[in-house]
Amino acid sequence: MTINEVQAKILQLKKEKDICILAHSYQAREIVEIADFSGDSYQLSVAASKVSNKIVIMCGVRFMAETVKILSPDKTVLLSNPEAGCPMAEQMDKALISSVKKQHPDYTVVAYINTTAELKTICDVCVTSSSAVKIVKNIENKNILFLPDCNLGAYVAAQVPEKNVKLLQGGCPIHAVVNPGDVKKARDRHPGALLLVHPECVPEVVKLADFVGSTSAIMEHAESSASKEFIIGTEISIAEHLQYRCPDKRFYGLSHKLLCPNMRINTLIDVLNCVSGAGGEEIKLDEETIAQARACIDKMIELSV
Ligand code: 13P
Ligand code: SF4
Repeated sequence: MTINEVQAKILQLKKEKDICILAHSYQAREIVEIADFSGDSYQLSVAASKVSNKIVIMCGVRFMAETVKILSPDKTVLLSNPEAGCPMAEQMDKALISSVKKQHPDYTVVAYINTTAELKTICDVCVTSSSAVKIVKNIENKNILFLPDCNLGAYVAAQVPEKNVKLLQGGCPIHAVVNPGDVKKARDRHPGALLLVHPECVPEVVKLADFVGSTSAIMEHAESSASKEFIIGTEISIAEHLQYRCPDKRFYGLSHKLLCPNMRINTLIDVLNCVSGAGGEEIKLDEETIAQARACIDKMIELSV
């Protein structure tokens, strides 16, 4: 079978079975092409809350599929590849955060959406990389406990200096490894290019950037900019997607280290197996977890307007 034939089969089966396919922007080109929605974590969580299909397939990582299930408990939600987890989402568990909360009872607990459903049950509000600054600004309490990503948290703290932001030492093992030396190498190779980075990168890299934003914000900025060359400081798939979208511009990955094996484990064949009923994993969460985690996500949607 060719890629086009597999894509045609997926499109036919998804229509017949009333399936919606969501793909995070880090997914491979051939998956993004057959998705009903593709975008950053925030866009996918909003799309998930609005779709009317009975079955939703998430091409991304486990916490994203859990978010869909939390927002749509009556739907069948499938993670296209059961091995696709986000190591950052697993870094902190409920027992650890319960004890940190006891030590800081006057703090509002802000959880990056890259957390497990279980952890969300004891947090006050979720944020995504694109909504974090706005949401933290909108929280009444001055004291914020931000978890698990200390790099995104440091970026938010710098944008909202009026808040007292306490960080925990978690982070994305992919974004956190790029360093100012990688920036220097990329800038030396492409002296005319703008550097666009994700706030999951370390502050030393973030402060060298010409623009900081979520995956979608990076894509929108590159598309609308008058500049012609860009160094992309997030998962390298974004440089490729942008090259398809803007053939008259040039996109370079900041570093080959920016490859997320968790996101990239999903293949088009996984999606075919899922729509055929022979693959993926159905996400199951108990009612109490759904209700408590939902309060955290609903608060995010409420505070991001
Ligand atoms: P966004 O989609 O919010 O930019 O996050 C990037 C990411 O690492 C998702 O896991
Ligand atoms: Fe998790 Fe980082 Fe991969 Fe995103 S890029 S899924 S935060 S490991």
